[in-house]
Amino acid sequence: MSVAFVTGSGGLIGSEAVRHFAGLGLDVVGIDNDMRQEFFGEEASTAWNVRRLTDELGEAYSHHSIDIRDRAALGALFGRYGRDVAVVIHTAAQPSHDWAVRDPFTDFDVNAAGTLNVLQSVREHCIDAPVIHCSTNKVYGDRPNSLPLVELATRWEIEPGHPYEQGIREDMSIDACLHSIFGASKVAADVMVQEYGRYFGMKTACFRGGTLTGPAHSATELHGFLGYVMRANMERRTYKIFGYQGKQVRDAIHSSDVVSAFEAFFRNPRSAAVYNLGGGRHSNTSNREAFTLAEQITGQEMITEYVEANRIGDHKWWIGSNEAFQADYPDWKQVYDVPMIMREIYEANVDKWVPAA
Ligand SMILES: NC(=O)c1ccc[n+]([C@@H]2O[C@H](COP(=O)([O-])OP(=O)(O)OC[C@H]3O[C@@H](n4cnc5c(N)ncnc54)[C@H](O)[C@@H]3O)[C@@H](O)[C@H]2O)c1
Repeated sequence: MSVAFVTGSGGLIGSEAVRHFAGLGLDVVGIDNDMRQEFFGEEASTAWNVRRLTDELGEAYSHHSIDIRDRAALGALFGRYGRDVAVVIHTAAQPSHDWAVRDPFTDFDVNAAGTLNVLQSVREHCIDAPVIHCSTNKVYGDRPNSLPLVELATRWEIEPGHPYEQGIREDMSIDACLHSIFGASKVAADVMVQEYGRYFGMKTACFRGGTLTGPAHSATELHGFLGYVMRANMERRTYKIFGYQGKQVRDAIHSSDVVSAFEAFFRNPRSAAVYNLGGGRHSNTSNREAFTLAEQITGQEMITEYVEANRIGDHKWWIGSNEAFQADYPDWKQVYDVPMIMREIYEANVDKWVPAA
């Protein structure tokens, strides 16, 4: 028996990973306690996605509503499968800057201690299984804001000819900058994942994601950029723009391009690998450009409100480089770009995201 363990299996990346690894013929064990609903309210619940996985995959998927902070329960589940565990994909997290400030203990317990619980369970029960960890570009804190940027009509851009013109690489320091409480808990997890790779020789990878997106996101104001742009437009909600003239740039990668990268690592794992993974130059947008795309897709104008103050530590410009991953895994191909992603989000939610009566 070959088993894939997926934490956060109801979430955007977790659910995509469940489907993908089940498609490869593995049995999938999913762990998700729908804490996203506790973080962001009913509209962000991922229970619908878990029901869908259970309906679609039948016996190939078994769901466990365990909290990754519960060391004993997590360890017992790993113990039940032991060396049958062929890969662990860790996506469960508290994912928002703004939420983390409200409750730093819970943020740190889920993101940092929860990750340690996963690592130690793997070490004790299935040490050969590759561990794929969803880290984030927020580990670089606000350092990208010190890059020389120029203001264009609809976006911020890096100065032409800069070494990071094709995207920020992993050689950017993560030290001595402002991370936000969320960024700091994710740094702790990222470093611990590397350490279990270096110290214990385990096969571990940190994927430092840019904006991860796709139709399975339970998009909400505090998390899920492109999903929430579409949702706000479709439900006629006011989208709040926080500073930077709405010209802040993010790269965006579709969840299926993310999990195809995970599969590449699973097939040929390394120890203590660290990769930026995002839309890169191929797929990126500013807020303003995303609004225009949403308007073209739905035929309806965005309703926006501009808030002068930017979110603390928010990136003015983030385009990451996938070069390091591509060098190690040359067969990996990115399929989606921003217009394709937004159209797909629209089509998947057109019956669900309608204006309140
Ligand atoms: N979405 C992005 O733009 C983005 C960008 C960079 C990094 N990431 C990282 O990628 C990972 C996945 O992101 P996502 O967008 O799929 O998030 P998501 O919120 O859609 O999914 C995470 C899932 O984990 C579950 N969960 C949370 N706390 C839990 C706990 N204590 N025990 C068990 N389950 C728990 C939630 O209920 C949710 O279903 C996270 O680590 C996130 O920080 C996301």
